[in-house]
Amino acid sequence: MLFNLSGKTVLITGAGGGIGKAIARAMHAQGAIVGLSDVKEEFLKDIAAELKDRVHILPSFDIVQEENVNALAEKAEEIMGKVDILVNNAGITRDTLSVRMPKKDWDDVIAINLSTPFMLSKAILSKMMKRKYGRIINIASVVGVMGNAGQVNYSASKGGLIAMTKTLAREFANRGITVNAVAPGFIATKMTDVLPEDQKQKLLSAIPVGKMGSAEDVANAVVFLATDEAAYITGQTVNVNGGMIMV
Ligand SMILES: NC(=O)c1ccc[n+]([C@@H]2O[C@H](COP(=O)([O-])OP(=O)(O)OC[C@H]3O[C@@H](n4cnc5c(N)ncnc54)[C@H](O)[C@@H]3O)[C@@H](O)[C@H]2O)c1
Repeated sequence: MLFNLSGKTVLITGAGGGIGKAIARAMHAQGAIVGLSDVKEEFLKDIAAELKDRVHILPSFDIVQEENVNALAEKAEEIMGKVDILVNNAGITRDTLSVRMPKKDWDDVIAINLSTPFMLSKAILSKMMKRKYGRIINIASVVGVMGNAGQVNYSASKGGLIAMTKTLAREFANRGITVNAVAPGFIATKMTDVLPEDQKQKLLSAIPVGKMGSAEDVANAVVFLATDEAAYITGQTVNVNGGMIMV
């Protein structure tokens, strides 16, 4: 069977969000054992109940602090026995034009969107290295490639995440570990629900496919990168954006 993830264990951060839940469902459907992590356990109850078996609600941590990141990595390894696949999906936005942006909003977004994936990858990679197997998939964004007015912190964090992906891919390529990014375009979730209607229309007019993407569209790319069939793909960014940018 193609894209079989039976017996593989996955740690997904931000698993209570729109895209995180879709990734959990899609990985689980291919046979994976999924470990769900979010800042509050209650965000994970629905998805855990839906999946029923082969699912673990990991202790909830605010993974902006390094000690919490390390605790999450340890708990995930302890509860699932190992982490074969890490999906760095947790992310936030704090949008405003550059000249108005408080330093705190810059720092908060860089911390959770860029520093946390680095620290969590570092913690899990040391274990993956010993096992000579691993998949890391970082959820970036189209704006990390093209920039976006009003998102200087977010676009810098996601552009940094793409660059980090390439360096980690080079460092671990000969150890059976691949590191890739998925860069979603304009996806229908809570994060985009809050955009004003005129901005939504403007964004839609820039998408050749003519509609917003779904969380499942993103999850399908993540699943593929996690499989054995994708073993020769590393350091890449898969753009899931309906043709919004073509690179
Ligand atoms: N929705 C889109 O259009 C879109 C587009 C491009 C990229 N993305 C990226 O996809 C990822 C998922 O986005 P989403 O749309 O599902 O957003 P979402 O807000 O629905 O989910 C994000 C999840 O991350 C969790 N999280 C945030 N800060 C955390 C912290 N400090 N510790 C632990 N968990 C924390 C939140 O609780 C939430 O459940 C993000 O990285 C986002 O930047 C989304």
